[in-house]
Formats: sequence, C-alpha cells, structure tokens
Amino acid sequence: METLVRSVDLRSRIDAWRRAGERIAFVPTMGNLHAGHYSLVELARTRAARVVASVFVNPTQFGPREDFASYPRTLDEDRAGLAAHGCDLLFAPAVEEIYPFGTVQSVRVEVPGLSDILDGAARPGHFTGVATVVTKLFNLVQPDVAVFGQKDYQQLLVIRRLTEDLRLPIEIVGAPTRREAHGLAMSSRNQYLSADERAHAAIIYRTLQAMRDGLHAGQDIAAVQSQAREGLIAAGLAPDYAVLRNAADLSEPAPETRSGLIALIAARLGRARLIDNLITDL
Ligand code: PAJ
Repeated sequence: METLVRSVDLRSRIDAWRRAGERIAFVPTMGNLHAGHYSLVELARTRAARVVASVFVNPTQFGPREDFASYPRTLDEDRAGLAAHGCDLLFAPAVEEIYPFGTVQSVRVEVPGLSDILDGAARPGHFTGVATVVTKLFNLVQPDVAVFGQKDYQQLLVIRRLTEDLRLPIEIVGAPTRREAHGLAMSSRNQYLSADERAHAAIIYRTLQAMRDGLHAGQDIAAVQSQAREGLIAAGLAPDYAVLRNAADLSEPAPETRSGLIALIAARLGRARLIDNLITDL
C-alpha cells in the first residue's frame, strides 16, 4: 500500500485508476484506527476496485478547548492496519496541504440547521469543520462511493446533505457501529478512559437499548428521555443529551411518534466525551 502526502501525487495516482475504468471508494479518518475504522475499509472494498483511506487530524473541527493537540497520532500502526485490511492507498497530508490559505482564511462549507443542534450545539463550529474538510477531501479523491460510520450519525446526515446539495456524484454509504463485547461503541477517544471507566461506559449502550424498549412498551417520549438522562447522571456520567429524534433529519418527534426514531446520547465520563446512538425501529 502506497502512502501519499501531496495532493498532486494523489490526483495523478487516482487519474490513472480512473483512466483504467476502476471504481474508487473512499474512507476518511482522523487515524488512531481501530476495528470500527477497519470495518469501513472492508465495506469499501466490496463496493469498488480501489480503496483510498485518509488519515488527517482536521484542526477546524476541534473547538479551542478540545483535544486537537493531544488527539492520538499513530500513523505507523494505522498504515500497517490499513494495508492488512485491503486498502490500496493512504493519503496522509499535512495541515498546509489541506488548508493552503490557513485554517482561518479557508473557504468554509456550512450545512445550516443540521449543524446547529445536538453535537453542533455542544461543539460550535464542529460540523462546519467536518463539512469543509470532507468537501476538500472529496474534491481531491473524487470517489464514486464514500463510507462513514453510523456511530457519528449526525455527521453522516451532514455529509449526506452536503453531497446532495452540492450535487456531488458520490454515493454515501453508512456502516454499522462496531462495539466492544460489553456494548461500548469503539472510538479513538475511549483511550482517554481508565479501565474502570471503560467498563462503566457500557451504560451508554444499555441506556440506548432501554430507551428503545421503553418506546416500544408505549412509554411517553418525554418520560423515556428524562429516565435516560437521570440514569446516566445517577451512574456518574454528565450527559449533554439523551434524546429520541426523527432519524431522517434529527428533528424533534411529535409525542405520538413510534417509528422512524433514533435514540442518541452524548455524555462526558472522566476526560472523554462519548457519543452513541441506536435506531429504534425493530
Ligand atoms: P474518525 O473519528 O477517525 O472516524 C472515521 C470514520 O470511522 C467515521 O465515518 C466514523 O463514523 C467511523 N467510526 C468511528 N468509530 C466507529 C465504530 N465504532 N464503528 C463504525 N464506524 C466507526 O469521523 C471522523 O474521523 C472525522 O470527523 C472525519 C469524517 C474523518 C472528518 O475529519
């Protein structure tokens, strides 16, 4: 597997594949890869002749008090893992390659509305950073298909929206969430947890399941949400939100809604802010 750091080199490699009529799948990441990321590469593999992955810790999606500087960077391990999972090409650019005019003067891609709620409300500017870097990467790689995890459900919707609105000819595929045996969604940020906290964090997935079960048992949406929030607080977590939303657009459901919903949680535990979700339809 080849690693490229310059966009001109990436372009010429991809042009050659395209001239040979090969379909290209793309998996963008911020590195520190785990089994969840590799499952996206494997899914991408089934959808195209060539798989390109990127490792780029994108400064514009981190808030000023967030973990950009300390975000784990493990490029050698990532490269070995990507090669082992059938990736053809790794693009690992420096910040200046993606932001030639600097991060402040960069052209920005905004997805209003969807970017302002839930994680967007807790992390102002985050989804503009994500939408901007993904658009830049899409423009460089020009993939036929791109794979994103459902674990970051709001991100997936933001990317679907920008792809549709900008009429990019790219199919966006959502991949199921990979979990630890006890249910915790795999995440690079799980490293910020102690062993005890990691075991404890399984309460997030159990709470999502309880929200789904409560909904199906006929409980009020408001009651399901407040029970979930109180349970998380009682367990020592600090929830940003524990809500049921319409899965199509994350809008608030009418009280009688019973289908097409998704349960979403974001909660702080120790140094980590963890997010997870569960589609509640059976
Ligand atoms: P990162 O957090 O590295 O995640 C890269 C991709 O892996 C995302 O599509 C994410 O949803 C997916 N992923 C993470 N954990 C997963 C799990 N447990 N199971 C399945 N998929 C999982 O998301 C980003 O990077 C960035 O915001 C990015 C899109 C690369 C833009 O910078």
